[in-house]
Amino acid sequence: MTDSRDIALKQLMDDFHASIDVDRRLFRVDIRGSIAYARGLVRIGVLTGEEGRTIEDALAEIEGEIASGAYALTRDLEDIHMAVEKRLIEKAGPVGGKLHTGRSRNDQIATDERLYLREVVDDIAGRIRGCQEALLALAERTVDVVFPGYTHLQQAQPIRFAHYALSLFFGLQRDRERLADCRKRINILPLGAGAMAGSAFPIDRAFLAEELGFDGLSPNSIDAVSDRDFIAEFLAVCTMLMIHISRACEDLVIWSSTEFGYITQHPRLATGSSIMPQKKNPDAAELLRGKAGRVVGDLVSLVTMLKGLPHAYNKDMQEDKEPLFDAIDTVTVALTVYTAIWETLEVREARVNRSMDDAMLATDLADFLTRCGVPFREGHGTVAALVDEAASRGCSLRDLPLALYQQYSEHFDEAVIGQLRFDDSTDMRALPGGTGRNSVLRQLEQARDILAGG
Ligand code: ARG
Repeated sequence: MTDSRDIALKQLMDDFHASIDVDRRLFRVDIRGSIAYARGLVRIGVLTGEEGRTIEDALAEIEGEIASGAYALTRDLEDIHMAVEKRLIEKAGPVGGKLHTGRSRNDQIATDERLYLREVVDDIAGRIRGCQEALLALAERTVDVVFPGYTHLQQAQPIRFAHYALSLFFGLQRDRERLADCRKRINILPLGAGAMAGSAFPIDRAFLAEELGFDGLSPNSIDAVSDRDFIAEFLAVCTMLMIHISRACEDLVIWSSTEFGYITQHPRLATGSSIMPQKKNPDAAELLRGKAGRVVGDLVSLVTMLKGLPHAYNKDMQEDKEPLFDAIDTVTVALTVYTAIWETLEVREARVNRSMDDAMLATDLADFLTRCGVPFREGHGTVAALVDEAASRGCSLRDLPLALYQQYSEHFDEAVIGQLRFDDSTDMRALPGGTGRNSVLRQLEQARDILAGG
């Protein structure tokens, strides 16, 4: 009775705490860390050169066995560290059991995660860059596409479409900078911290850092095994990136709607409805918007897990991997799809032109009065009244008679009214960062410089 209860509880717990289904993807970095560690043990004489070589060779073979599936990572192996060690002892004999001298899974997992994330960060940075290239190319071909700029989703002021595309480019640049910054704190070696107080063997941590390509050593062993800030930071960077993607996708969803019709997305990135034959849904953009929610959830899940944990390692921390890997996978595919959207986007200029309300030129009229010496606030009121007048007559600003303009202000003349043009309006905004043609050309230049710099 007691025995069967005992067996059942063991089985229950083995299943419950096994993390190998999740952390198996760390096998390469785990083995890489172990090879460096074996060399470190040889340096301090814990392993003979011969033993070190036996262990290294066996580890290299194990990597191949796991990659090919020859060594199956089953749940009873608990986690990736135990799985590798078990196989090492099987292959190398009892000497394999020396590898863990002075090491704990606590400093081992922290090392693995940092090694893994460092590669991921470089990959994601490259993907963001690819997306910036697509946006830059789009901006280059849409400098002369005049488009309505919105605030509150109301037509506000005319812009050049390139100006919009570049706004996304510069947002992605900040994401890439944040990623590079967080990489600095990822690339610090925790190994040597042991369980939490530091290894009792004089392992040469600087040597390990050198072997594994880390830029520095964690300065405190308790901090080394407690710290998951680098994951939280990475998830926060991913969250901001996905929010950028999601907001732009919202623009695309709106602009591809029946009512707006400003853009067409590549038919392969839209899908039909199973019942309504006419539908072309902007699924790619919608799904990206949805995926952003997942990544926000990953961040929240990690920081909620960490909140209130005592120092140093606690088993709760094993739960850091699922949100981390989920965010990595989501962001990776999201960037590929998002890039494809910009590469294939088409702006329907005729349709855009028809939709542009010349009330968007109201600011320019007010600016004109201001240049004639009218205080801006007064000019603003005058033009607001003209806009109301046009609205009540059901016509556009351009169609109001000059005499009416002149009733509102003696400064108005034919030339001013005749010059109410959207592209001229954009070119009034010629200062750095504005939507004027030259200003946009300068931004293109800046964007190219950024990409040329890395
Ligand atoms: N599988 C564990 C994790 O991912 C490794 C560290 C376990 N440490 C321990 N003392 N049980 O967090």
